Amino acid sequence: MVSAMILSDLVQGKKNPYADVFSPSRSILRPHLAVNGLEAMVSLLTPTAKRCPHLGCALKWNPQARTWDCPCHGPRFTEEGKLIDNPATGNLEL
Ligand code: FES
Repeated sequence: MVSAMILSDLVQGKKNPYADVFSPSRSILRPHLAVNGLEAMVSLLTPTAKRCPHLGCALKWNPQARTWDCPCHGPRFTEEGKLIDNPATGNLEL
């Protein structure tokens, strides 16, 4: 839908506010990329007993949802370690 809007505006000579976001020549080097990399590195180096089975980031306990959450790519696990959300593909080994 967005690409149709961008192409339609392009044909009509209008400036589309989303054109830069979807431009094939956009740069992926953004400040949040460095922040995400730093957070992942800190998580990987954090001493903890509970690790995500996906790539090994330190899991954080979410007291409101009562789940184990991985800050790296977003999967969640029940209190007992059963997988709720991807991208992890298996349960925790507790
Ligand atoms: S390391 Fe936890 S989801 Fe990738």
